[in-house]
Amino acid sequence: MQYKSIDQQDLDHFRLTVGAGQVFTDQDNLREYSHDETEDLSYLPEAVVKPGTAEEVAAILRYCNEKGIAVTPSGARTGLSGGALPLFGGINLSVERLNKIVEVDERNLQATVEPGVINQVFHEACKAKGLFYPPDPSSWGSSYIGGNLALNAGGPKAVKYGVTNAYVLNLQVALANGELIWTGANVLKNSTGYNLTQLMVGSEGTLGIITKAVFKLLPYPKTNVLMLVPFASAEKACEAVSAIFQAGITPSAMEFMERDAIDWTLRYVEDVQLPIGEEVEAHLLIEVDGNEEEQLMKDCEKMAEIVERFGAGDILFADNDNDKAALWKLRRRVGEAVKANSVYKEEDTVVPRAELAKLLKGVKEIGAEYGFKSVCYGHAGDGNLHVNIIKGHMSDAEWKVDLKKGIRKIFELVRELKGTISGEHGIGLVQKEYLDIVFSKEELNLQKQIKKVFDPKGILNPGKIFM
Ligand code: LAC
Ligand code: ZN
Repeated sequence: MQYKSIDQQDLDHFRLTVGAGQVFTDQDNLREYSHDETEDLSYLPEAVVKPGTAEEVAAILRYCNEKGIAVTPSGARTGLSGGALPLFGGINLSVERLNKIVEVDERNLQATVEPGVINQVFHEACKAKGLFYPPDPSSWGSSYIGGNLALNAGGPKAVKYGVTNAYVLNLQVALANGELIWTGANVLKNSTGYNLTQLMVGSEGTLGIITKAVFKLLPYPKTNVLMLVPFASAEKACEAVSAIFQAGITPSAMEFMERDAIDWTLRYVEDVQLPIGEEVEAHLLIEVDGNEEEQLMKDCEKMAEIVERFGAGDILFADNDNDKAALWKLRRRVGEAVKANSVYKEEDTVVPRAELAKLLKGVKEIGAEYGFKSVCYGHAGDGNLHVNIIKGHMSDAEWKVDLKKGIRKIFELVRELKGTISGEHGIGLVQKEYLDIVFSKEELNLQKQIKKVFDPKGILNPGKIFM
């Protein structure tokens, strides 16, 4: 694809539109906005543009569309599939200044927010009013609502409460042609025409730029219980997961961590201590929440019986806020710890919950065949296993060539198990070469035609999702 490079006239125009101080071309900024959290990938934009209003976002898009300038939308750049990398240069359009919580509507249990609001900041603002916004990706302390929407982000709570799309009622979107639209209405049910709201969620900034989102909220659950369950067999831990749901319990988190995941994170975070027996191969971190303490204790007793059948060791109950925070810190920082430890590649496999043990076994077998080690963890209750492939002793040639064959094998296994290649991290740049495993030509063509309708000149986040 060919895009116009940015010249002085373009920069003048951007400065006129968003303010002279909000357009950056210095090396430090270009470098900063050249990467997200995906491996060590980096693509320099030619300029970073920071609009302050939805109208400014739209005006920038109108101009870039007319001129044929590539626009890579970005949020906090915490993504793991390369969605915010400015592959073709052009501008990196950051939504960071659109960071207002416009309204928390207590009458309707709804909230309207801009895309640059940090997930946890939004969560806390709702909580202060007794309201609950459940989606909680591990990056919630830094990732933006806009990025969460673009990737349809999940997180531990998704297992009970659903991922981002379950809470979106209506979106204001700046289109490539510079129009601002609303996709739906601020209502809990809507069968009025095509569902453009849900089409936008997960579209990774390739169809438009979300400038406002209206969410539904829940009452904040009054209490929770958190427990860490060790297993001598990682596969048995996976099998225990579906047994718990089959017994009629829906935990508010059901997370899996292989031994290496927890060991590496313990070393990485330093301030958390946890004695772990030699024999332990994996842990489940299980939370139940609700309003009745007694009911939660009953659920825990029942779960304790179930996990025992799968060979669980002594269960650790976190009985105060500090212990809970420590366990959650361990879980949330696994990704960072792995990244700090080694060159790695992140795969975001997802299968029907009861197939999780088969997936884990298959991943290890494929690793043995192709000569790579993997550290696995993730949202076991959703069948969503993050497979972190470690470079270790692999040569650069093996890492670049053989590994791709191994990853293909993993994704083929995922398809056989009726799953798919990304549960919550998206396709972005780094997974697009594997899309053919899960979509036929016809299915992909339909998606490409949708892209054409929204963005006929292909200026919006070019090079993402499709080859
Ligand atoms: C997590 C991120 C990597 O689950 O999705 O920690
Ligand atoms: Zn995750």
